[in-house]
Amino acid sequence: MMTDQTKIKKCLFPAAGYGTRFLPATKAIPKEMLPVLTKPLLQYGVEEAIEAGLDTMAIVTGRGKRAIEDHFDISYELEHQIKGTSKESYLTEIRRVINACTFSYTRQTEMKGLGHAILTGETLIGDEPFAVLLADDLCDNDAKGVLAQMVELYNEYRCSIVAVEEVPKEETNKYGVIAGKVLHDKLIQVDNMVEKPEPKDAPSNLAIIGRYILTPDIFDILRETKPGRGGEIQITDALLQQAKQGKVLAYKFDGRRFDCGSVDGFVEATNYFYQKG
Ligand code: UTP
Repeated sequence: MMTDQTKIKKCLFPAAGYGTRFLPATKAIPKEMLPVLTKPLLQYGVEEAIEAGLDTMAIVTGRGKRAIEDHFDISYELEHQIKGTSKESYLTEIRRVINACTFSYTRQTEMKGLGHAILTGETLIGDEPFAVLLADDLCDNDAKGVLAQMVELYNEYRCSIVAVEEVPKEETNKYGVIAGKVLHDKLIQVDNMVEKPEPKDAPSNLAIIGRYILTPDIFDILRETKPGRGGEIQITDALLQQAKQGKVLAYKFDGRRFDCGSVDGFVEATNYFYQKG
């Protein structure tokens, strides 16, 4: 019987990056608030976390904090204005999200990398396993969502898990890349991982995408992790320490993923969701 302390309830959303590839749109709002059709990327992420059974959303912000907080709050004036009109239904989904979970926020004051953003979130997570969702990686699956698939795996294996996808070899320098022992066609026990390797140095073409389950010992490791590639504190470097103890799995998820941190991926996602209706 699983105790509540080991059950994953919290999802951390690092949303403090500069989003330079989307300037000037990201000058005053985080890229996680850019909409695909009418819904901000972050809302898609929160809905995926709710679907996975999580109820506490912990958001690491930088600038544009107000836009995020206001989005996940009730706008009484607006609701009053459209109540009883045909437009009321536009707010149904976000209302459901607000009622299904709680939100907490902390601020990353210096953008020292994804690993540093995750460590900043420790105050919101505490000493329990948790999920991390990078909302600029937008995932879609008709059956179970990617995070729900990973939570299920966690309940079986009880260790850190990263979602991976095969990428063209020439693109390995955009991702953390893993290698390890194949346990079955979808699962690999990680024994090596490298942040943004050049294709010739990449240990495989399996790239980590923005979905993680992390055990809380990652925080102590992150505290000791020196800046790596790009002078940033990399989650990949911290995960390698766990992997050396045999405690990291890589999971080839079911579903599609769009890199909405790039303009091409963002347009692709927009077309995909538009066609899907
Ligand atoms: P990216 O590597 O996509 O960086 O971050 P970025 O700064 O947001 O975007 P570009 O490259 O300048 O266009 C991956 C994720 O990690 C978060 C980002 O918000 C994004 O969700 N992040 C990154 C932080 O929260 N803090 C950081 O210091 C770095």
